[in-house]
Amino acid sequence: MNVQTNIPLSTLTTMKIGGNANYVADVTSKDELQQLYQNSKKLNQPVYVIGGGSNLIAHDEGFPGLIIHNKIGSITITDDNPTATTIVAGAGEIWDDLVKYTVDLELSGIEAMSGIPGTVGAAPVQNIGAYGQELADTFVSCEAYDTTTDTFVTLTWEDCKFSYRHSIFRGEATGRYIITSVTMSFNKTKPEPPFYDALDKYLTAKHIDPTTVTVQIIRDAVLDIRMNKLPDPRVLPNAGSFFKNAIVEKWKADDLLNTYSDMPTYPVDDQHTKIPAGWLIETCNLKGEVIHGMKVHDGNAVVLVNDAATGYADLAAAREQIIDTVRDKFQIVLEQEPLELTLIVQA
Ligand code: EPU
Repeated sequence: MNVQTNIPLSTLTTMKIGGNANYVADVTSKDELQQLYQNSKKLNQPVYVIGGGSNLIAHDEGFPGLIIHNKIGSITITDDNPTATTIVAGAGEIWDDLVKYTVDLELSGIEAMSGIPGTVGAAPVQNIGAYGQELADTFVSCEAYDTTTDTFVTLTWEDCKFSYRHSIFRGEATGRYIITSVTMSFNKTKPEPPFYDALDKYLTAKHIDPTTVTVQIIRDAVLDIRMNKLPDPRVLPNAGSFFKNAIVEKWKADDLLNTYSDMPTYPVDDQHTKIPAGWLIETCNLKGEVIHGMKVHDGNAVVLVNDAATGYADLAAAREQIIDTVRDKFQIVLEQEPLELTLIVQA
């Protein structure tokens, strides 16, 4: 097992902010994970587990403990019948490699989530979603190391309590479980219209007949749309959507629609409506602005790019300014989407 010392978190997170972690270890097996965790516990050393670092904001103080880089791999088909295929993927697998693998097999379920950065193990934490699909739609269960009981457990779909960009892993059970693999069920039917609005428009513009669409066509379309709208974290440091879309009471959205008739809205339930954070920020004229070194992305204002931030304080100042501006105009308080790398996982 390779343990490195004094590694800048700016090199482990796509936002490229953050001071040093005392120790960083790559873990490739469940045994290694358990051993390392128990060792840290004996030493009273805090532990934090990361995957791709693409949805994580680190702090300038760094991390006074051990960062476990989850690289537990393997993709295995565990069940295959005429209508569905079940796949178990190691938490350390790259998410988009799994998407490509399933699309190559003509399996449907996660093709619209092509191109999302990060690892399989991080996907359930924030119930990743894009272009009409979310992880919860294909998720069956996951295996995790339970740091409280020092055992490996299986958590079912119900156990995970998924909702929009949320699960127990970033809610009530924060820090308790370390996901080691995810089991998903895929179906063998062709993707059927109606498609997510942006996809539908793309297909129409490319003169693709919606009834002939395959999972490969959806994957290619999503990768193309993302390339034009979202900054590549390898080129422009960012953590994807920096804010969650706002879920507000329906009466409030209806009220805003009286003034802003072009405001995009998505029904959540009878009483709630989702409003895109990108639209709210753009309508405050912040798109393209550089605030404390953080740039509101030109392609989608929900993304903040680290243009020239000198550290976490700049990011925090930019975040507060954007939240305040949106609140003053719309009386809606935006919430940060990426997690913060703090001392939440205590050995
Ligand atoms: N919009 C604007 N201005 C903007 C951005 C968006 O007016 O600057 C409007 C668009 O015109 C559209 C609506 O808002 O009418 C929705 O925009 P889009 O389809 O681009 O998606 P989004 O709501 O901004 C969400 C996810 C993305 C995901 C896309 C596609 C969240 C916080 N973000 O963004 O996820 O790729 O839908 O499904 O839910 C991520 O989580 O990191 C992420 C990129």
